[in-house]
Amino acid sequence: MLNKEKYIKLQLLKWYSQNKRDLPWRKLFKNNLPDPYYIFTSEYMLQQTTVNTVKERFIKFTIKWPNLEKLASTTEPQILKFWSGLGYYSRARNLLKAAKIINKNFNAKIPNNYEDLIKLPGIGDYTAKAIEGIGFNKSVMPVDANIERILVRLYAIDKPISKIKNKLKDLANKFISDKYSSNLIQSFMDYGSEICLPRNPKCNICGINKFCQSYKKNL
Ligand code: ADE
Repeated sequence: MLNKEKYIKLQLLKWYSQNKRDLPWRKLFKNNLPDPYYIFTSEYMLQQTTVNTVKERFIKFTIKWPNLEKLASTTEPQILKFWSGLGYYSRARNLLKAAKIINKNFNAKIPNNYEDLIKLPGIGDYTAKAIEGIGFNKSVMPVDANIERILVRLYAIDKPISKIKNKLKDLANKFISDKYSSNLIQSFMDYGSEICLPRNPKCNICGINKFCQSYKKNL
């Protein structure tokens, strides 16, 4: 029999296959995964900026620097000039530093594991997991604000999110996928931005509402 978490995972994957957002860093290659360089760069951009703002900038970025070697050979003034208007310029400096390290120490290949990723400038727990999970289909669950919101609602947790970060990480780990990690992580992100919205969530069309404690209790 399917347990609750397994059912939710299957529902989200099915929803994602029909409703995923068309985002420029998601183009799939023969292995059915996106380009890790695209995921690496987009995650730096998305750290403090909305998906809608990043979309256009990401396309311009990859026209200017289509691969890691090209990025690693640019200069800090160049990348800062490009970053104009995006804010949080330390992201751009860190992205360039990380690209130079990857070029030199990892043969220009984005590292596919947590230990190497977490040591790079500008990469914390969330971004390391996002890159290894989305870019390399590693079985992890990066916990962003969307996933936090979905979890507190599913389990009807009424404590402030800042007080239960570790509990949320434990809960998120129940939703790790063995085979479809990249798609499942992105399913959660899109579900949080399209259905399980911060305000006025679309519970009436939500395919997992029968397992949502908040929905059941009308919270
Ligand atoms: N936010 C952070 N990373 C994202 C991604 N890969 N897709 C959509 N939203 C995101």
